[in-house]
Amino acid sequence: MMTNTLTIRQPDDWHVHVRDGDMLRSVINYTAAQFGRAIIMPNLATPITSVKLAEAYRTRILSALDPAHDFTPLMTCYLTDSTDPKEVEMGYEQGVFTACKLYPAGATTNSDSGVTHIDNITVVLETMQSIGMPLLIHGEVTDSDIDIFDREAVFIERTMFKLIAQFPDLKIVFEHITTKDAVDFVRASGPKIAATITPHHLVYNRSAIFAGGINPHLYCLPIAKREVHRLALRKAAISGSPKFFMGTDSAPHTVENKQSACGCAGVFNAPFAIESYAQTFDQENALDTLEGFASLHGPEFYGLKPNSRKILLERKDISVPDNYDIMDTQIIPFHAGETLKWHFAGLV
Ligand code: NCD
Ligand code: ZN
Repeated sequence: MMTNTLTIRQPDDWHVHVRDGDMLRSVINYTAAQFGRAIIMPNLATPITSVKLAEAYRTRILSALDPAHDFTPLMTCYLTDSTDPKEVEMGYEQGVFTACKLYPAGATTNSDSGVTHIDNITVVLETMQSIGMPLLIHGEVTDSDIDIFDREAVFIERTMFKLIAQFPDLKIVFEHITTKDAVDFVRASGPKIAATITPHHLVYNRSAIFAGGINPHLYCLPIAKREVHRLALRKAAISGSPKFFMGTDSAPHTVENKQSACGCAGVFNAPFAIESYAQTFDQENALDTLEGFASLHGPEFYGLKPNSRKILLERKDISVPDNYDIMDTQIIPFHAGETLKWHFAGLV
């Protein structure tokens, strides 16, 4: 029988960029409307590298929230070559930091202050391992001689294997995975290794970025790969394995910054995130595993309770706007102008 309504625990977004200032005020409530909690990425223009910066950022996020939403931002510490392990430990013990984020220097938006070599953060990683604090990894090598479509797979070979051997008890989330290689790596590794999967990497492959001309709104990092990889991601997401969970990587940029001679990487998917995932799971006849992926596996990995609230999803056509008027300009969302088959009817 066809499922037409679905009630699941309220999901969390385990990877999102909500920016700062006017942009923060414009986008945060899309995330807060759907998700109970979200892991807030620290890659602001001035990266969130200290407890003080994280507390101030959290306060700005909370003050941008519509009071109708009961939403908890979970803050992360941006690792650099000179991160002080004591700062990380203090932030974790005080409940300010939930995790640390590793950006290889130069890998993506605002990653210039990232880590230039993994050996520079050995003591930080030892500390995190001993206190049980998760490490969130943007898993791409940055060497310009490595083809952009190979950067995730090469990161596994060069860094991931070494990392899990050196820190066998460190909790690691391989963020926004895009390859079958990453799926296989995560599956083959122990229970401390998990991965997030975005809605957009489940929907399109690399050909779509160039279908009929260049589509800058499908450009994000890691870049979408071949179809075989998209299919592996879909299989992993619907598998029921606790190693895979939701992380939208919603990453808003203004239309000028996307449609440019040097367009920014990032897909803004926050307004219809759960709808997009629900449609994918439905296409795979796997609505029964959506709740695990959306709402249970993430909290379990992070050692948190699932949300007690529930949300209602209904099978119903919904139109995604062509754009959002934001800050005297626009942001073009994921699925712009499309009709999705599932509707988020709110909390129940
Ligand atoms: C993100 C951003 O714009 O901050 N962009 C993206 O393409 N995903 C950074 C990131 O997560 O790589
Ligand atoms: Zn991201």
